[in-house]
Amino acid sequence: MPDESRPLSETYYIRTFGCQMNVHDSERMAGLMAEAGYRSVDDPSLASVILVNTCTVRDKADQKALSDLGRLRQHKKENGSVVLAVTGCMAEREQENLHRIMPEIDLIAGPSQVRNLVPMLTDVKNRQKVLLGREYGLPEMTTPPAQRGPGVTALVTVQEGCDKACAYCVVPRTRGPERSRPVAAIADEVRELVAAGYREVTLLGQNVNGYGKNAAGGASFGDLLRAVDAVEGLRRIRFTTSHPSDMDSGMLSAMRECPKVMPHLHLPLQSGSDALLSRMDRGYSLDHYRGWIERLREAVPQVALTTDLIVGFCGETEEDFEATLRAVDEFQFDGAFCFIYSPRPGTPAHRWADTPPREISVSRFRRLEERLDSLIVGKNQRQIGEVQEILVERVDHSLGRVSGRSPQFRHVRGFGKGSRPLPEPGEIVPVAIRSCTKAGLEGEIL
Ligand code: SAH
Ligand code: SF4
Ligand code: F3S
Repeated sequence: MPDESRPLSETYYIRTFGCQMNVHDSERMAGLMAEAGYRSVDDPSLASVILVNTCTVRDKADQKALSDLGRLRQHKKENGSVVLAVTGCMAEREQENLHRIMPEIDLIAGPSQVRNLVPMLTDVKNRQKVLLGREYGLPEMTTPPAQRGPGVTALVTVQEGCDKACAYCVVPRTRGPERSRPVAAIADEVRELVAAGYREVTLLGQNVNGYGKNAAGGASFGDLLRAVDAVEGLRRIRFTTSHPSDMDSGMLSAMRECPKVMPHLHLPLQSGSDALLSRMDRGYSLDHYRGWIERLREAVPQVALTTDLIVGFCGETEEDFEATLRAVDEFQFDGAFCFIYSPRPGTPAHRWADTPPREISVSRFRRLEERLDSLIVGKNQRQIGEVQEILVERVDHSLGRVSGRSPQFRHVRGFGKGSRPLPEPGEIVPVAIRSCTKAGLEGEIL
């Protein structure tokens, strides 16, 4: 219930960096703020509470948040009553440092403290606390549908944290150990979302297909997909991110048999070289990955496969890099996020001295992107002449077109024909594909 005693002048602004986990944490914080009677504003200079939800996965993420905080800190100096709070993964990892270099910040708290946001803000006003510790409970708190992003598709956390220990990665240090929510709680949340008008959910976890491995009750990720598939009124289910070591046949049969589960798997490979995979401590070989892709394509022939790739990791030779290029050719990815390795304090690889020179990594990154671009443009071109069913997310009446995603997660713009009214958000409509770019497909609504 809104707190009636809180004056209407109490406003908040949230800035979000990082992955979908962070986007969803911001939605949760928005839900808590609204419940406590705060009103959302879209300009930080109008806010009485400014929340900066940070990411720290690569150095660039740190730099973005720090430069933003630099500006906000100035604003805070000029407007003493504003509360400036830093949340998210950088806040977790850099608590003491942030406090030291930017003493104006009122509150620094990691992702595990999201649920305590409102009491924390009260403490801040009473000047009791600045730095908050960790509290790794079950991620049970959900966001009221009204506080989520607008649209027809919603994020649903099914698992938090990560139990893997990839040598380069900071996430286990910022989001704690893996915890899975009970199936019934997830299904209830999805039902609530459908009742509020959402038509698609994306199930979120750092290793989403490792769902349930640490939970009592024994439900696996395949069981979870089946339970969500049974929710009436829901049209589409997506999930991210899966880990090659957590693949199992139950997940593949659920993907094949559940009509709402979309034919798309995001499965980060990271490198095509076994030597590098082993140094990264990924826990699988290229051959293991290959085996699962064969099984996946057999089970779900229409499936799209996307991935994450890192270049310039410690010890990467030209041969290792070429193995990654060969893997791109072999697996024919439908999309990929490519990154240049960024050393992260506190991770095992941070101490290793054999990172390739920066200019070599940059040139490998470009070569990799070129290879992927031509692969993806070619794949999109082969869609011309096909019909794709898209879930309409946005409608632009002035341009006479809608946009949404195909089952394989391709961006599609569909133009209306003549005087026929455009479909509404949430409808699934067929679009005849006539042209494409690297970014997506375009065509005519049938
Ligand atoms: N849990 C997911 C992804 C987590 S982070 C998984 O394991 O796949 C998203 C991506 O960022 C990773 O897949 C990896 O490709 C990239 N990444 C993580 N740490 C990195 C680092 N230190 N430098 C460069 N890229 C990194
Ligand atoms: Fe990071 Fe590896 Fe965990 Fe993914 S699986 S979050 S890359 S440690
Ligand atoms: Fe996500 Fe960045 Fe944290 S990628 S998990 S917000 S470090």
